[in-house]
Parts: sequence; C-alpha cells; structure tokens
Amino acid sequence: MAKRQAIEIKGQSARTLEKDLNREFANLHVLYVKLHNYHWFVKGTHFFSLHEKFEEMYNKTKDYIDDYAEQMLAIQVQPVATMKEFMANATIEEASGTEDQQEMVDNLSADLQAISGQLLEMVEDLENNKALSLADAVQDMARDFQKDDWMLRAYSGRE
Ligand SMILES: [Fe+2]
Repeated sequence: MAKRQAIEIKGQSARTLEKDLNREFANLHVLYVKLHNYHWFVKGTHFFSLHEKFEEMYNKTKDYIDDYAEQMLAIQVQPVATMKEFMANATIEEASGTEDQQEMVDNLSADLQAISGQLLEMVEDLENNKALSLADAVQDMARDFQKDDWMLRAYSGRE
C-alpha cells in the first residue's frame, strides 16, 4: 500500500495556523469582490487605466484563491467556503460604494499592505509544519501584492 503523501499539520500550532490561513483566505475573497466593485464603479479621469488595472488584479486574485484552497486541502486544513464565513473571518473591509477613484487606490493599497504582511507572518509557522509548498505560494503572493501596492502608491504620486 502506498504511503500517504499528504502533510497533516498537527500539534499546538495547528489551530492557530488554520485560523490564520482562513483569515487570509477570507481576505482574498473580500479583495476579489472589492476589485470587481471598483472595476465597475470607478469614475473620472483615470477610468480607463484603473478599470483595466482592477481587472488584472481580480483575475490574479481568482487564481490565487483556487491554488490557496487546494494547497490548504493538501495539508488537511479545511478552507472556509461560504460568504458568511468569508465575512466572519476577513479583516479587510468591503467596498462602501461611495469611494472616488483616489480612495479606491488608497484603500486597495492599504488592503494589499495588510494582506501581504499577514501572509508573510504565516511563513515560519507553515515551514515549521513542513507545509513548504504553501509557504512558497504565500510568499509569492505576498511579493506580488507588495508590488501592486507599490504601483498603486506610485500611481497616486505617494512614493
Ligand atoms: Fe469587466
């Protein structure tokens, strides 16, 4: 019989890690919906560039979400998967529906900073639990979000 290959996180850190992983998974969903909201409702002189940038960002986020969930399952951690759970676990705010184009850019910049920081805080825990593939994925995602954050700040002339 083939030896089981899946890594199962165990021990005292497992519950914390599960909670942290699901918090960021929920944040990715809030970010995904928020990017659509901004993509649809952005108005003003920067419409064309922001409309397109937000689309690029939600498309990337969609791919991150699916990979992240499947990597969680690979280490025997159940991803939250309902809207109710996403809203209960997320730490970033939904779109308010009243943002102007500058507030959209500033809000996304703050969200990306928060999410990337929290993702990087999980890396050590993931490595300690031998979830090395997920640790790599989390770092790649954080790097990408940091880059988009820089671009948004540069776009605003705030660099
Ligand atoms: Fe669209």
